[in-house]
Amino acid sequence: MWLEGFLRTQLRRLLTQESHTALESKIPLLESRFQDIDELGLYLHIPFCRQICPYCPYNKEIYDPEVAERYTNAVKKEIDIYSALIGNRPVTSFYIGGGTPTTMLYSGLDKILEHVFEAFNMQCDIHMESHPNDLSIDNLKAIISMGVEHLSIGVEALQDHHLKALHRPYTVEQVRAAVEGALGKGFKCVNADIIFALPNQTYSEVQQAGHLLVEMGVDQIAAHPLFKFPYTKWAQIAKEKDCKSASIFGRRKMLGILERIFYGSGFERTSVWAFTRPGVPKYCSVTVPLYIGLGASGGSYLKDVFYLNTFNAQEYIRALEGGKMPIALSLDLTESMQMAGWLYWRVYETRFKRSDFKKRFGKEFDKVYGKFIRPLSFVGFLKDDGDEIVLSNNGTYWLHLLQDLFSIEYISRLWGTSKQEPWPEKVVL
Ligand SMILES: C[S@@+](CC[C@H](N)C(=O)[O-])C[C@H]1O[C@@H](n2cnc3c(N)ncnc32)[C@H](O)[C@@H]1O
Ligand code: SF4
Repeated sequence: MWLEGFLRTQLRRLLTQESHTALESKIPLLESRFQDIDELGLYLHIPFCRQICPYCPYNKEIYDPEVAERYTNAVKKEIDIYSALIGNRPVTSFYIGGGTPTTMLYSGLDKILEHVFEAFNMQCDIHMESHPNDLSIDNLKAIISMGVEHLSIGVEALQDHHLKALHRPYTVEQVRAAVEGALGKGFKCVNADIIFALPNQTYSEVQQAGHLLVEMGVDQIAAHPLFKFPYTKWAQIAKEKDCKSASIFGRRKMLGILERIFYGSGFERTSVWAFTRPGVPKYCSVTVPLYIGLGASGGSYLKDVFYLNTFNAQEYIRALEGGKMPIALSLDLTESMQMAGWLYWRVYETRFKRSDFKKRFGKEFDKVYGKFIRPLSFVGFLKDDGDEIVLSNNGTYWLHLLQDLFSIEYISRLWGTSKQEPWPEKVVL
């Protein structure tokens, strides 16, 4: 713990020159922030689920159709505010996440999407998350008629005892039927989310799950190790049941097993945890660097500012019904922070171009980060092709482990506090 904290502080100083960072309860002046932005991404958060999974860090509450109807109207109001600010600038990426977006299939999601397409200059496909239990034939028809082209399904595990341990409300047979029902319906990409390094999971179970996913015919697989967020119930459950989960080396071995299966079946790596069939457009969250986040807990990043809406759905609705922005916290970003943020996401994607850095910041990549490239290339963590830098399998895993040093801790502080307090004064990262 002490070592992690020390490493985190040193790395943050090295990359951003900041000793600490704090988000504060102020609403940034938005009018001027859009002036030199050419294109934007859009994220929409649906904070409702039919049940709460104990390991899940995301912002959600139990679905209630009446709250969902009021939420629909509030999101439409937030869209109107942004529409006036953005004008005709193209929106080139749109992602609907949660919670579980498919809870709102018949309580307002279609109305929100219609409003998005009326209010913004949409130049992109829709990517959406779904729960396997929401994928009946009629629901799939409704999803397709809303215009969703890229669908992700939260499969999570492919052994019944692991599904049970995760409190998932279906069996392997049922989840297979849900995934197979979504395939062949005309989606450009069907992604399956799977979690590995589950309590007491064996290497052969990981192997079996990998082969089954390929056999099912999904277009993409996002395989995450089970992350433990201290503010979820999972930390307590794992302690009580004395669950053993794989070490960082065990996780590397499990990821290696999956890499071999997916590469061997023709999949290509498209991010740290995602593998996509060639020729298929990858399913992923917002792809452009600058984006607006709609809904409770929606986060927005506009070049020199990051801000976050209140996590509390009732407070979010109340703010917009009262004609106020639902922004709870914001952080002005120095250039070093913006560059470190850029690098974080490019490492996540496992490849990046020096020329893209120059285009974004008007500076030579090597003048800022060149000193890290040569040693990382020497130890085989990346391949330097002149303009493009590509992470190797080992580099992907170990560099991402360094990233997790920040992300798990920051998410825990920011989301953990925001979940408890709808309008926090300040969150120090
Ligand atoms: C918003 S959920 C997916 C949609 C839907 N709510 C569901 O559960 O099927 C996003 C995904 O994040 C992943 N996830 C959630 N908590 C996680 C954790 N603690 N560690 C690793 N992955 C996690 C799961 O794979 C989950 O499917
Ligand atoms: S994993 Fe999905 S269904 Fe479970 S609580 Fe999280 S968002 Fe909801």
